[in-house]
Amino acid sequence: MSNKRLWQISESPFQPERLRHFETLFAIGNGYLSARGAFEEAYPGETPATLVHGIFNRAAGKPVPELVNVPNWLPIRISIDGTPFSMQAKARDSLKPEGGALLGHGRTLDLGSATLRRQALFRAESGSIVRICFKRFASLANVHLLAQRVTIEAVEGAPHISIRAALHADARNHDACHLGSKLAFADGDVAAVTATTSQSGYAIALASRLFSPSKVQAANCDEMAALSSEFQLESGGSASFDKLTAIYSSRDLAEPLDAAKRMVGGASAGAYEAHRQAHADCWRDTWSKCDVAIEGDDRAQLAIRFAIYHLLIAAPRQDDDVSIGAKTLSGLGYKGHVFWDTELFVLPLMTLTQPSIARNLLTYRHRRLSGARRKAREFGYAGALFPWESTDTGLETTPKWTDPDADGARIRIWTGETEQHINSDIAYAVLQYWRWTGDDAFMRDKGAEIVLDTAVFWGERAERKRGRYEISRQIGPDEYHENIDNSVFTNRLVQWHLSQAIALIGWLREKAPDVAQRLSAALDLSPSRLAAWRDIIENMHIPFDDEKQIHVQFDGFFDLEYIPVSKYQPRIGGIWGLLGHERILQSQVIKQADVVMLMALLGDEAGSAEVMRNNFNTYYQRTDHGSSLSPAIHAWVAARLGLADIAYEMFERAAAIDLEDNQGNVADGIHAASCGGLWQAIVFGFCGLHIGQGGPAVDPKLPKHWRRVSFSVTYRGKAHHFDVVNPAV
Ligand code: BGC
Repeated sequence: MSNKRLWQISESPFQPERLRHFETLFAIGNGYLSARGAFEEAYPGETPATLVHGIFNRAAGKPVPELVNVPNWLPIRISIDGTPFSMQAKARDSLKPEGGALLGHGRTLDLGSATLRRQALFRAESGSIVRICFKRFASLANVHLLAQRVTIEAVEGAPHISIRAALHADARNHDACHLGSKLAFADGDVAAVTATTSQSGYAIALASRLFSPSKVQAANCDEMAALSSEFQLESGGSASFDKLTAIYSSRDLAEPLDAAKRMVGGASAGAYEAHRQAHADCWRDTWSKCDVAIEGDDRAQLAIRFAIYHLLIAAPRQDDDVSIGAKTLSGLGYKGHVFWDTELFVLPLMTLTQPSIARNLLTYRHRRLSGARRKAREFGYAGALFPWESTDTGLETTPKWTDPDADGARIRIWTGETEQHINSDIAYAVLQYWRWTGDDAFMRDKGAEIVLDTAVFWGERAERKRGRYEISRQIGPDEYHENIDNSVFTNRLVQWHLSQAIALIGWLREKAPDVAQRLSAALDLSPSRLAAWRDIIENMHIPFDDEKQIHVQFDGFFDLEYIPVSKYQPRIGGIWGLLGHERILQSQVIKQADVVMLMALLGDEAGSAEVMRNNFNTYYQRTDHGSSLSPAIHAWVAARLGLADIAYEMFERAAAIDLEDNQGNVADGIHAASCGGLWQAIVFGFCGLHIGQGGPAVDPKLPKHWRRVSFSVTYRGKAHHFDVVNPAV
């Protein structure tokens, strides 16, 4: 891969104050699990976490389930002539260090090969100096395998090295304890731990094997299983040791411990290298489908590769019963829950570059239709209403209250009840997948049922009032305004959704009459229901100001207090924290792209060029970007409108969300939606990718200093490569 610098994220020197930020950035993963970039020797303030797709649990006393932090497989302790290697060693005199001295340190995440490397130069109390190089990866070729290699070089002296590699059965999600029945044991050169989640009952097993230049001894203590070894380095010499860990859960097979022990037990001394090679080959193949190469802007180049990397390490390749949470698998934020972020922000990258992953993610929703039907019934409607926050069960898992603040005050969270646009967001993703892939079998067997049963809900939910259809008590994408009437985003998308549903029934009747008949009976798609849908499409209330020629975000929006958002600059957090919940509710401050999101999704169908421009100019000034979902969508839409400066400014802002932590919460995990939004801002926004008469085509509006953007997409099974060149540069 050319120019390594544009494939690498680095930290040097060690920055203890940004420990948890780098843990998130340096997560490794393979779509089965991800592991945060915590250190082998552990430091106070770390949040080491390995999260496995689908392993949710509700801890005692907690209101909702969350993704479980499984036992820690990272620990490796190294002593040099009896001095434990530690980066906290703060010797006053680095020539005669008490407790050792860290002389230098650097870490690099190589995005191309999904490998985290770390180097440290360390002086022991004895005076010996060693260079220690750590490497780790989560194999993409065998997703149950985690590999670590450590190489120690004697830079000065001939030190005696002792190592201890461990598995810790005890892992927590902050204060929540999910793991019960913990067991840890080591025998020969293999250590193992098992645990079972307390409420959901998933069994998890890990087994590690240590390959050392000398004999390995087993040791057990409490909830830790350890393997140790000692060896002598010659002056100027070096030695490596490998720790291979296998992980399985009862989601994979009935006997996860046997499987984990079998995998590491069967490995040979050269296994690390063979696994590394297979892993690197898989990543090379993956990047050949997904890379976006940008010439003329190195920062943008690195940011988009970083964003794609983080989505790819969370993308389930072999499992269609899980989905990607708002923070991927890289942190504990949002408890691993799945939001609309997946369908509208993350999925397009998958649909257009690796459709089988998109199909898995959509199948996850199909498998949860019964939960969605239950939610609709609970609200008194037929059809399906997907949960705003989803986990393994398919039931609504949005908490009803925020955690109490320092004064014990809590705020009611309404999204689980009234942020219902999720239904049309999912339908949109199904239809987008179908349009790009032409996967009629998926549409016939799964997609249609999703699109139609969510439409059934809307058909009942829309209220006939004042000779038109209205939808009251909603939260649109702008969550600063709760339980408002007639969100233009929601109403317009519902109108679009119902018309797509009617067209889909026509397609089914022609291409798969048996399915049409089955669904018609099962979902009660009677002629009178379809007539009602047509009436709604015809008469849906779309809030619009005729005089100003703009969409109105919701009824009464412009009667609220106008607060120019730009007045409160510079600031790190959202304006919500500055002005308070009550005032924001009564103001025109918008959390994130809302009308602008509608414009991104529907393009020309959202309105005339004049209305689009008016909308953007009006809402842009009022938007706080209090959600990371916002800047990338603004970049996309501004680019299409020819607002080049705003487009680039918003793009840069989106690009910095994780890398520079410009919202201050990366410690909780990667912002998946922003990563997916960044890809869409480039591909749909700057490059103008769309399906034209003859298939995919571009309509470029590149930032003025970008020389070229190259990327590939798959359209109906065929790869299309685009080289978008900026003639002006
Ligand atoms: C945003 C939602 C988003 C959620 C998870 C919220 O702050 O307003 O749109 O789904 O975060 O990322």
